[in-house]
Amino acid sequence: MDQRISPATRISGSICLPGDKSISHRYAILAALAEGTSTIRNYSTGADCHSTLGCIRSLGIEVDEQGTEVTVTGKGLAGLSAPGADLDAGNSGSTMRMLSGALAAQPFDSRLIGDESLSRRPMDRIMKPLGEMGAVISARNGKFPPLEVHGAKLRSIDYTLPVPSAQVKTCVLLAGLYADGETIVREPVRSRDHTEIALREFGAEIRVERRVITLQGRPRLIGRDLVVPSDLSSAAFFIVAALLVPGSDLVIRGVGLNPTRSTLLDVLLSMGGGITILKVEQVNGELLGEILVTASRLRGGTIEKETTAALIDEIPVLAVLGAVSDEGLVVRDAGELRIKETDRIATVAENLKRMGIEAEILPDGLRIPGRHRFRAAELDSFGDHRIAMAFSIAALAANGESTIHGAEAASVSFPEFFEVLKQVTA
Ligand code: S3P
Repeated sequence: MDQRISPATRISGSICLPGDKSISHRYAILAALAEGTSTIRNYSTGADCHSTLGCIRSLGIEVDEQGTEVTVTGKGLAGLSAPGADLDAGNSGSTMRMLSGALAAQPFDSRLIGDESLSRRPMDRIMKPLGEMGAVISARNGKFPPLEVHGAKLRSIDYTLPVPSAQVKTCVLLAGLYADGETIVREPVRSRDHTEIALREFGAEIRVERRVITLQGRPRLIGRDLVVPSDLSSAAFFIVAALLVPGSDLVIRGVGLNPTRSTLLDVLLSMGGGITILKVEQVNGELLGEILVTASRLRGGTIEKETTAALIDEIPVLAVLGAVSDEGLVVRDAGELRIKETDRIATVAENLKRMGIEAEILPDGLRIPGRHRFRAAELDSFGDHRIAMAFSIAALAANGESTIHGAEAASVSFPEFFEVLKQVTA
């Protein structure tokens, strides 16, 4: 689908966005492993989280969807049954990596497949710890999907993550649910902690001391009623839009503000962004609130080390902002960007180039010069949802109408994106 985007004169209004993708995956999987019914409200509308629901259904779990309210009837840790066919994770790395943790402990084999993009993404990062726990997993060329998981009785482990990855952490913790004794995960840098919070909500015994997570194996998980906060990574596009377009002010309600996810807000504030937190509350252990964003001149700067890891999904849209900032933006320590849905260092640089901005590609990041005006252009999502949305935002500040080719990719995480965009630019 081609989406045409005209320059915006102002971004305004008060919006409430769909449920968080990361939290929705975790609630769905844990609800499937819990005993009894869980009702999950504001479940993500994105295709990725529906891939997770599809896999859970194929594992014999009843899932009922009424709009964005999802009811999952779990049968406990031992309640999954052998799937009759391949489990299709679609475009979703989270589905494949997280679910593999639980599948590794089942008394049956399963085969996980994904689309073309997912089939190019590395799975050895989960195969290694799951192998150490006793599972036997094979993959194409030893590392790429399809994944064949031969379930086994698992041993608990003490595992130090070689890469900062919440998906790998979650995979090991889900496997650890099935192992006797304590499973320990040590993180080099702190990654999103939705799994730790959700496990506690479902009744698991879990301790977090600095960057060491200790989970007691074989808990009894109990079904729960849960509400998913709106997705801050989806809100990021509208936050940047409101900062970028002069005269804008936008309120975003009910948005997730978990501190392991909100580094974007800290970085934008430190660059001079007009962001005010109006309200904060806690639901199911997760912080959420209301924020006001007003158009601002941004300084730009450097993003590196733990900061890069903490806002890895927001880098494409931050890169857009970097190009109009006073000093430009340097992104370092972002090698992980190369193995997301696309090589986001390459796809960001290519779209910036089409808009007249020459970013320098670094081995682990990008150097984006500041003080630019976007040139209207033919842009491409390259099949990547965050690239489609990030460059739709750039197009709002361009000198004419731009086109995003492959704009339908946005529906992987945010099917309503273009509707909301119309609403806030009207
Ligand atoms: C996610 C973790 C991150 C992130 C992805 C969602 C999660 O991936 O990029 O969009 O929900 O745990 P990594 O674990 O590969 O860093």
